Amino acid sequence: VTVVSHPFELPAASGIRVLVPTMGALHAGHAELIRQAGQHGDQVVVSIFVNPTQFGPNEDFARYPRDLERDVETVREAGGHVVYAPSVETMYPRERMTKVIVPEVTELYEGAHRPGHFEGVATIVLKLINQVRPVVAVFARKDLQQCAVVRRMVADLDHPVQIEIVETVRESDGLAMSSRNVYLSAEERLIAPGLYTALTAARDAMRNGIEPDSARDEGRVNLEKIGFVVDYFDLVDADRLVPVSKVESGMAIVAAARLGRTRLIDNIVL
Ligand code: PAF
Repeated sequence: VTVVSHPFELPAASGIRVLVPTMGALHAGHAELIRQAGQHGDQVVVSIFVNPTQFGPNEDFARYPRDLERDVETVREAGGHVVYAPSVETMYPRERMTKVIVPEVTELYEGAHRPGHFEGVATIVLKLINQVRPVVAVFARKDLQQCAVVRRMVADLDHPVQIEIVETVRESDGLAMSSRNVYLSAEERLIAPGLYTALTAARDAMRNGIEPDSARDEGRVNLEKIGFVVDYFDLVDADRLVPVSKVESGMAIVAAARLGRTRLIDNIVL
């Protein structure tokens, strides 16, 4: 694995270059992204950058886990070729910068609970794909709204990159893999899989004919019963991230809920 910190240090693309944008603290979910990236091209570049502009002032930017050495090892094991780990100064050389604002798909859910978050995500993703110039960029379904934001940005701005989405990887008890899972206390870790249980229960209830609104309300109540503080639990159009009230194709259930100081998000696409 070649490790570089400037875009001009990137080795020449040998064949089709694929980018996996990450914030490091790589886990089995990222390893799957890297493995699948390898199926879309010849040279897999994994970017590792904890992007300050997508964190709110009271969020976990400072304590976000960072371990480059271990990440490089994970990239190697998963078959990645290059790690691109720029500094904040490299990514943000000027204080006042051009920003990418994606409308509509950013208005609700993560966009509503984390003001400015998607502006930071869209801007850094566009910068990374402009620097790395991949043919394909790979994103995780776990961040469903982020996938919709990136797709919308690429479509609106006619960016030639092809976006590929990889399914969520879960622990054996259903908990979606996330770099933030390390924040959970032992007690919270036992409760955490309840988020996925609530999502699957809502899906199954609707399959059995329960009205979507009731399934959604039940999901919220069940999460609160086991100790979550629910930010949202809703049925949405998976591309537009707006609520839907009847079961239709291309629908997802999205959820964000907190256990103590840790905020977990998850979704299932129906
Ligand atoms: O999903 C993430 O890890 C980040 O939001 C991303 C896409 C790397 C942009 O900083």
